[in-house]
Amino acid sequence: MIFDILSLFPQMFASPLGESILGKAMERGLIETRLHNIRDFAFDKHQMTDDRPFGGGEGMVMKPEPIVEAVEFLRKTRPTPLVVLLTPQGRLFNQRIARSLARVPRLILICGRYEGVDERVAEHFTDEQLSIGDYVLTGGELAAMVVVDAVSRLIPGVLGNSASTDEESFTEPLLEYPQYTRPQEFRGYRVPEILLSGHHEAIKRWRRGQALIRTRTRRPDLFARMTLTPEDEELLRQASDEWRGRLWKESE
Ligand code: ADE
Repeated sequence: MIFDILSLFPQMFASPLGESILGKAMERGLIETRLHNIRDFAFDKHQMTDDRPFGGGEGMVMKPEPIVEAVEFLRKTRPTPLVVLLTPQGRLFNQRIARSLARVPRLILICGRYEGVDERVAEHFTDEQLSIGDYVLTGGELAAMVVVDAVSRLIPGVLGNSASTDEESFTEPLLEYPQYTRPQEFRGYRVPEILLSGHHEAIKRWRRGQALIRTRTRRPDLFARMTLTPEDEELLRQASDEWRGRLWKESE
């Protein structure tokens, strides 16, 4: 999969994309990130990439010409890319969108800066606008990195221990159960006894109960979308008795 990233600060991407799992995926040719400086597509004398907003107001707006020149230049080559603008005004990015993007052979990610990007770019020259959350970043770069990371790990072969990504959070709208490793006791805090018991069925049920109680307390919005089996109801009852007060308070 190819990611073409359009940014005024392409050097921001070097380290996050070069390390660890993504770095290895790149070495192995499973993903490729191509960094493009938007300024290189600004063909006026001063290579201007931003200007004052029509109608007045604070801050600067990114000009349409350099971005659209860059998109059109990249669009001339195969495979045909999907063009995505990162903006707080976009559709809220989630695991479902990550899965659908992982099936696309090539993405162009446009990172805005300043007060925003001329609206005509969003309206006429992109296929999709994405936000990574209801907060405002100083630019789309970190958001683009989030998208590259979440999408890349879904590409077959990128995660070494190809433990299927089907079971994880947000496939079913359920948070994951808590994980523990050695030592069994750390600063007086013990690992839950059941995990040391070797009873695989009991451990599986306990984990399901933990996932359910976590989701109910921390993400009532996700919990509301679930259909519980009678066994889930029972596991939830047990888990809420056992964990009352240890997780975020349910009454809050
Ligand atoms: N640019 C600034 N804030 C953003 C956000 N939350 N998501 C995507 N792009 C952004």
